[in-house]
Order: sequence, then structure tokens, then C-alpha cells
Amino acid sequence: MPNQIKQFDFLVLGSGIAGLTFALKVAPHGKVAIITKKHRAESNTNYAQGGIAAVTSKEDSFEMHVRDTLEAGAGLCNEEIVRTIVEEGPARIAELIDLGMRFSEREIPRSNGARELDLGKEGGHSKRRILHAKDVTGREIERALLAAVAAQPNIEILENHFAIDLITSQKLGDEGHNRCLGVYVLEKSTQRVETFSAPVVLLATGGCGKVYLYTTNPDIATGDGVAMAYRAGAAVANMEFIQFHPTCLYHPKAKSFLVSEAVRGEGGVLKTIEGVEFTDHYHPLKSLAPRDIVARAIDSEMKRSGADHVLLDITHQPAQFIIERFPNIHATCLQYGIDITKEPIPVVPAAHYQCGGVLTNMDGETEIVGLYAVGEVACTGLHGANRLASNSLLEALVCADRAAQRIISHPVPPSEARIPEWQSGNASNADELVVVSHNWDEIRRLMWDYVGIVRTDKRLQRAQSRIANLQAEIQEYYWDFIVTSDLLELRNIATVADLIIRSALQRPESRGLNYNLDYPNPDPDWAQRDTIIRNPI
Ligand code: FAD
Ligand code: SIN
Repeated sequence: MPNQIKQFDFLVLGSGIAGLTFALKVAPHGKVAIITKKHRAESNTNYAQGGIAAVTSKEDSFEMHVRDTLEAGAGLCNEEIVRTIVEEGPARIAELIDLGMRFSEREIPRSNGARELDLGKEGGHSKRRILHAKDVTGREIERALLAAVAAQPNIEILENHFAIDLITSQKLGDEGHNRCLGVYVLEKSTQRVETFSAPVVLLATGGCGKVYLYTTNPDIATGDGVAMAYRAGAAVANMEFIQFHPTCLYHPKAKSFLVSEAVRGEGGVLKTIEGVEFTDHYHPLKSLAPRDIVARAIDSEMKRSGADHVLLDITHQPAQFIIERFPNIHATCLQYGIDITKEPIPVVPAAHYQCGGVLTNMDGETEIVGLYAVGEVACTGLHGANRLASNSLLEALVCADRAAQRIISHPVPPSEARIPEWQSGNASNADELVVVSHNWDEIRRLMWDYVGIVRTDKRLQRAQSRIANLQAEIQEYYWDFIVTSDLLELRNIATVADLIIRSALQRPESRGLNYNLDYPNPDPDWAQRDTIIRNPI
């Protein structure tokens, strides 16, 4: 029996901070479906620790936040966008608090018990400006936003629904300006592919940490949004700038556990396994230098000494302070037998954040009419060649609002196009599932070894030819067999891996997160140039 097309006014792909914020803003204007591939809270947002950067203190200024962002971005940020996002931040934070978000507070000294927001510090920030909820900021954001969404009758959340591909006018053979008409979605419990249509589709699918073997990201982060937008013909920008977080817990049983930069903000110091500080050789800000510099410093110390990790030491702080400020990090490390109040934490760098993504303006508009992108999936120009810590939650919050305001003031008219049903392969062969898991592991290891913190053209070219072979194999498999979420994610990580490699090969310089030994310095000619890739459809 043919599936009926499910019609909405707004389709939101993803239920992290970007998708939920946008959904709440547009809900008074029409019916919203939030399509999310696992449980509604499962997102990078949910694991955010450090907090949200915003100017809320008298000691701070927009100018200083702008300067720190530009400095971290290594010459590639778009200053107008940086300024807009920084300046709109405080108003969006106030709305989040009104919605029920509980940030950590502290008592104002000599004030008879009056309280103010507690501000944390992270790498590259010249002031304390990170609003946080202890060390579980993201969990608290998801709680507050999901509670607000639950109270909105116009919003339907569809969990375990995997967005496969965007439906566009060009794919249907229309040669006019490309327009997004809807999405094909795998309903995981029935394994059926459903068709959703709406004049507005928001990509809020987050990042792609799972493209790498070691990552701080949860399993959802497979770059689906970038891969879908690329297949649909949208421009994808600056994918070479993958941020490696310097301090992921190093323990054989710990999967992807981040040790927040806020630990260094509160005095934590990086040391070699012999207990010697080393970051002073790399930057005057030592352990709190911008992230690209600290991650490279650790990588180079590990290569020099042959050690498989370094240490992060905060034991000089009082135990009670550590436990109150970092309850989640303390408890999690304790589970692995590490008492962070008494001993240093073994850490390694791991893939953390995608600075590039689907090219948008600051209202989330892509090159495809009706298709918007907000949050980690998007490349607005805020982060440039390296994101300043805690600027991503800020960007998602501000740009979700801007996209919603833009759409409300300039509604996209519904389309008359007839959307065909999904055509499925008709074979399933359990024996072949090994191909999926093998290729998945191979891509992630290849990216870690050849397209990691330090690159060379030769390694990038090797990686490119292997990914091309894997893509051919995956494509064949894709058309022959019934789609599963594992196969869809494999196809997407292969596409994103290819985009990262092609972008890195296009940039003949080292800048921010793109460090290439064949061109060890920045090239002034590339200072304001984005690497942009479009699928020739
Ligand atoms: P996400 O929160 O990742 O949400 C993506 C959503 O899309 C999820 O619901 C996912 O299931 C869904 N999805 C993905 N693909 C599909 C598909 N095909 N179909 C349907 N649904 C799909 N940033 C900061 O600013 N401050 C921090 O302190 C901070 N700490 C971090 C700590 C960790 C461990 C990590 C991993 C990241 C951290 N970041 C931090 C980065 C920040 O959390 C993310 O950039 C941000 O949360 C991204 O929000 P988002 O809404 O764009 O995407
Ligand atoms: C952290 O807490 O170290 C993560 C902050 C970020 O990624 O912005």
C-alpha cells in the first residue's frame, strides 16, 4: 500500500540546541515536525560540558569577545558575522533563562548573599565569560528546551526517524532554481521509508566526529546533514577545519569522554607522563592557548616521547572545589579508578567539532530555496579556521532565532510539485553486513592516521584514493540492498571524509586547524578564502 505524504509547515531535522530552539520559535506560525534519529535528547548538545560564551559581565565587552573569536579563527572569520552573533548572544541567553534553563550561580562577595551567574574560563578567552551548569551544561539545555517543546501543541517529535535524503526540485527534473520540497525518512521501528514535505526544511543535524576513530562525540555525529545537503547540490565550505579537543579521557574502557577545557580554566595544567609541564614551549597562554595550538602541542609531545597520552593535573585545587565544580568529570573518572582530586588525568586529543559545514548566511539560508541550516552542521563564517571554545552553543542559539525570524518575515510559499515515493532496493543479505562494519572501521582509522592533527599532501592523496574505492563499494551496496541506518551512516561518513580530504587538498597552507607539513605557514593570499565544494548534479 502506498505511503501517504506527511505534510507540515516546518520540518526540523535534529533535536539538539539548534533544532529545538528553531522549532520553539516557529511553532506559533504552523505545524512543526522534529525528526530525530534516536532518543530526543541524544545529541552533541546533551554532552556539552564547558558552557556558552556570552558577554554578561561588566568586566567584559563585545569588543573583547569579538577580538578573541577573530584571534582563534586565525584570519578566516567573517567579522560582520562574529560581531552580530556576539552582540545578539546576551538577549538569546536571557530568553533561554526565561524558558527554564538553570545556569550555575555564585554568591557576590560582600553582598549579603546576593547571587550572580558564575562565569567559567576556557582556552583563548581573555575574560571569564562562559555561562555553565556545573560541568553538564548541555544536559541542562536539553532538559529545558525539551520541556518547553513538550508544552507546544504545534510540535510533534518523531524519535528513531532517520532522515535519508532531501527531496529537491532539481532531483525531480526541474531546471529552475533548486528548491527543497521535503525529506525521505527511515522509520526505524518498521524499516519503512516515509515521505515528509514542507516549504521549509531546517538541517540541525550537528557534526561529524564519528568520521574519526577517536572522538568526543556521541554516535549520532555522522555528518548526515552535510552529506545530504551536498548530495542535494548545496555548497559545503571549510570542511578541512576539524577541531581536535586536547583533552579526551584516555582509558581503555572509556568511550568518548571529554574532560572539559574548563578544568584548565580553573587551573588544570598539562604535563608529560613524567609530570613535566610542556605547553610553555608552544604558546605564552600555555595550557589555555587556543585549542588548535594545545592539541598540536600534545600530539608533538606524544610523538617525541612515544607516550600514548599526556596528563592533566588539577590536584593543587581543594578537593571540595573540584567535586562541586566538576561533579560529572569527577564521578566518571572515579568509575575508571581515577580520583582527579588526588592524581592527574590521562588525556589524549580527539576529533571534537566541525568548523566548516553547509554554507549559510547568518540567517541560516543555504543556496537551496526552502533549505536552512543552523548549528554545527552549518558554516556561517563565525569560527573561521578554529572555533573559540563555547562559541558553538552560542552560534546555534543566535542563528536558530535569526533563521526563524527570517522565515516568519519572508514565508516560503508551498510548492505544487508532485513528490514521488521512495524507491527501495529489494534485497537484504545478512552475510553482507560485515561489509558495513568493516568499511566503517576502515574509514575512521584511515581518517585518524592520514587526515588528523598533522597532515601532508601525500597522506591526504593516499586517503583520497582509498576513500574513493570505499565509496564505490558502498554505492553498489546502497542500490542493491534495503537501507538500514548503519548503511546510511556509513554512506554519510564516507561522503564527509571525502569532503574533508578534498577541502584539505585545496588549501595550500597551514592555518588554524589545517596543519600541513608541506606548507607549514599561513599564506596571506588564503587569509579570507573559504574552500567551497559543490556536487555537480
Ligand atoms: P546536535 O546537538 O549534535 O544535534 C543534532 C541532532 O540531529 C541530534 O538530535 C541527532 O540525533 C540528529 N540527527 C543527526 N543526523 C540525523 C538524521 N540523519 N536524521 C534525523 N536526525 C538526525 N560547544 C560549546 O559551545 N560549549 C561546550 O561546552 C561544548 N562542549 C561539548 C562537549 C562535547 C562532549 C561535545 C561532543 C561537544 C561540545 N560542544 C560544546 C559542541 C556543541 O555541543 C555542539 O556543537 C552543539 O551542541 C551542536 O548542536 P546542534 O543542535 O547543531 O547539533
Ligand atoms: C569543553 O568543555 O571543553 C568543550 C567546550 C567546547 O567545545 O566549546
